[in-house]
Amino acid sequence: MKEIFRLIQRKPNLISLANGDPHFSLYPIRKVVFDVASVAEIDPVASWKAATPTTQSQELISSGDSSCVLPIKTVLGYGHGSGCTEAQQAVTTLTNFYHSPPNHVVTLTLGNSDGISKCFRLLGDPGDHFLADEFSFTSFKIDGGGLVPEELEKILTEWKSGRRRKPHVLYTVPCGQNPTGSNLSIERRKRIYNIAQRFDLIIVEDDPYYFLQYGSAQSQETCHTAPFMASFLSMDTDGRVMRLDSFSKIIAPGMRLGWLTTNPTFHAHLISYIDSSTQFPHAFGQMFIAEILGVHGWQLEGFDRWVRSMRAEYQRRRDLFMNIFTRTVGNTGWASASPPDAGMFVWIRVNVELHSRYRRVCTGKIMDGPQSCTRTNVPQLMQELFERCMDNGLIIMPASIFALKALPEYDGANDRIEDRSNFLRATFAGAEESMEAGLTILADVLDGFFAA
Ligand SMILES: Cc1ncc(COP(=O)(O)O)c(C=O)c1O
Repeated sequence: MKEIFRLIQRKPNLISLANGDPHFSLYPIRKVVFDVASVAEIDPVASWKAATPTTQSQELISSGDSSCVLPIKTVLGYGHGSGCTEAQQAVTTLTNFYHSPPNHVVTLTLGNSDGISKCFRLLGDPGDHFLADEFSFTSFKIDGGGLVPEELEKILTEWKSGRRRKPHVLYTVPCGQNPTGSNLSIERRKRIYNIAQRFDLIIVEDDPYYFLQYGSAQSQETCHTAPFMASFLSMDTDGRVMRLDSFSKIIAPGMRLGWLTTNPTFHAHLISYIDSSTQFPHAFGQMFIAEILGVHGWQLEGFDRWVRSMRAEYQRRRDLFMNIFTRTVGNTGWASASPPDAGMFVWIRVNVELHSRYRRVCTGKIMDGPQSCTRTNVPQLMQELFERCMDNGLIIMPASIFALKALPEYDGANDRIEDRSNFLRATFAGAEESMEAGLTILADVLDGFFAA
């Protein structure tokens, strides 16, 4: 059915008795006005946030007439999986500007969570295994620099082919990884892409924090000028990268709008899947994006100024968070953290081995080797710490909820992820007052916890 609707769009003069839409004159909406931040200044996020009487805004109107980019009657009707051409073109402009991918097409999504589940459904068969960072938003080892190429290569080389199909998909968050905040360097990206070529892996690049890449604490200014790190998509000569972008972190999560950039074959499959599932990206989100990136809105240049200004604002918050952290939690000596190079999260290491009740226990023989196997009580201690935080009015994310359990043969017997889950994820994207209050509670709780 959607194929027929696509045909109708291509031949606008056809008389259609085919649609199932109500007549557009019956939609009870005449126009939608978006009063948005102005991007006329160098640092538009700072002016917008200051919200003084002189703070500028600009009006974008979506209505029935042709002066807007995406007329209301077009976007409010039933559409098809790829969304309205105007909105699709708007995000294509962004992708081309930031990544210049060869021969790729964009598909609108309802944000990256939606994009991830669509990619996984498209790529996986029951019983398949995908590779992912061991602490992940959605397993193999990662370190402070993110996914470790050698670990990836080792798993693929040593894959025990007897029982299971070798993984053909690598899911990764290259920038400001959630939860660890790690960032993949260019060298690692190149090596991983090279491994993907050798082992014929599809890379699902989930990159909602792409625009939130920072420099050192002294370099606020470079946020406005420094280039963004080259994505996997930008190096994708083979069409093996499926890149997920989202407006959630740079405009608003409730818009539920993102986009997936893939080769044309994946795009065609995605569209037919969307046609029979979510049908059409959110109309108001499409309207907004088409207008804000269009001739009456920010356009590409203004968008770029906005995201760079956003990046400077988050870098300031990160530095503020780290200053408070050093003065409070850091001072206790019970936990430590490094400033992340991207994203919204600080990954706090709890020095749990300093606890008087910390135990490493030898549990005897394991699976197929004679060696003994070490276990710790880190899960129990971290659970106790989490509960103490809650009792004292602080909610903070424990690492255990992000820990992807590996298959037993890849879960190093003396190095289980549960025993390395002595981390907490804290955000610096929230209210600034919460940073001071939350980290002060955490410092007190840690003092009490380590004394007990
Ligand atoms: C790595 C990662 N992927 C995806 C998402 C979800 O993004 P969206 O709001 O676009 O669905 C998040 C957000 O929290 C995230 O951290």
